[in-house]
Amino acid sequence: MTGVLTPVLTAHWDEPDSFTLEGYRRAGGYQALEKTLRTPQDDIVAALKGSGLRGRGGAGFPTGVKWGFIPQGDGKPHYLVVNADESEPGTCKDIPLMMATPHMLIEGSIITCFAIKASTAFIYVRGEVLHVVRRVQQAVAEAYEAGYLGRDILGSGYDLDIVVHCGAGAYICGEETAMLDSLEGYRGQPRLKPPFPAVEGLYSCPTVINNVESIASVPSIVADGADWFAEMGTAKSKGFGIFSLSGHVTTPGQYEAPLGITLRELLDLSGGIRAGHRLKFWTPGGSSTQLLTDEHADVPLDFESMVAVGSQLGTRALQIFDETSCVVRATLRWTEFYQHESCGKCTPCREGTYWMVRVLDRLEHGQGSEEDLEKLLDMCDNILGRAFCALADGAVSPVVSSIKYFRDEYLEHQKGGGCPFDPAAATLFGDSR
Ligand SMILES: Cc1cc2nc3c(=O)[nH]c(=O)nc-3n(C[C@H](O)[C@H](O)[C@H](O)COP(=O)(O)O)c2cc1C
Ligand code: SF4
Repeated sequence: MTGVLTPVLTAHWDEPDSFTLEGYRRAGGYQALEKTLRTPQDDIVAALKGSGLRGRGGAGFPTGVKWGFIPQGDGKPHYLVVNADESEPGTCKDIPLMMATPHMLIEGSIITCFAIKASTAFIYVRGEVLHVVRRVQQAVAEAYEAGYLGRDILGSGYDLDIVVHCGAGAYICGEETAMLDSLEGYRGQPRLKPPFPAVEGLYSCPTVINNVESIASVPSIVADGADWFAEMGTAKSKGFGIFSLSGHVTTPGQYEAPLGITLRELLDLSGGIRAGHRLKFWTPGGSSTQLLTDEHADVPLDFESMVAVGSQLGTRALQIFDETSCVVRATLRWTEFYQHESCGKCTPCREGTYWMVRVLDRLEHGQGSEEDLEKLLDMCDNILGRAFCALADGAVSPVVSSIKYFRDEYLEHQKGGGCPFDPAAATLFGDSR
């Protein structure tokens, strides 16, 4: 069964010095950069387009196409901003990647900057994860020392600086345009699009914004070729990705596999649902993706198949819940997160998340009514597609999908005058059977 896995990004995570320059070089690191510096820039963009790599930050936009939007010969500075703000509940792939192989991200950043003709890159890391900030800073310092960054990189005449920037810990700063405002020193709030960042991004200059995993995938595509990458995955969702399993699984963790693998296959690899229990519901890509049930365990985890069953692939953060979990409670917790993280710029999200928490709290404590479910769905209708950015659309996902699949469970709370579940049974401490 482990034959299903395709460790590329994660191949060296178990080596004690994988995060050092020496460890990375021993694994073939920086060879793709040497190849890049001998290749015309447009060929690198073409290779990325040919690979079919789609953004690993959630939306799945084709990476090479995004790079191709950067105007050439415009006389303006170009920038790369690496989105390392990872804050979505359940999403936990970029942080281990930066801890284990920060040089893979740095090498990918240099190749990307070379391809889009940028001479400055920013890695925007979530500030609360100080150990990750320090690790990336240390790796950047090593790369300067070795001549991979700075002036005249490896004698090629190409110059590049990388700045590691600490975010202050706001989920909204992961939204690409809010990230640009935050980098410029303003309060992190989304910008109106268009203009898109590729035309008018950081300091009003053409900017590529890509997720950590997207950029870390670049060296292997350059080294092994677009065809090698495109052979993995499905027709429209190509390549490999990190699937993060958390919650009620026997062996939670990161599983790198081709897109199109199923939850059932991933559960087989991870020892299954914790002993004596069964799958109840799960998120395919973090809390912003509509939750699914055991009937979806054989649906391929790719962009198209997830949309076909009414959800999204998102960040491949598979949060697994067994039958001891209360779906109303989980939905309330997620909605509290969105209420807290709403930046307040627009009314549907600012007010809507506040009121959804109030109604969900009432329902969870058995004080709600069937009418409240309709009220919740009505609120969702008034939020979805009517807010300024995708945070609000994400906030609606767990509410609508939990009512769709578990309406009876909501009503049981009302009939029984409270939550029918024992919260302790859902914890992972000890055997709770
Ligand atoms: C509220 C919100 C939070 C986001 N947080 C992140 C994040 O932490 N990391 C990330 O890569 N993308 C995040 N995104 C998506 C980014 O806006 C953007 O699509 C992504 O960084 C593009 O990179 P990619 O094309 O490589 O996926 C977020 C989007 C929204 C609406
Ligand atoms: S949808 Fe929410 S997070 Fe996005 S701009 Fe509006 S208030 Fe801010």
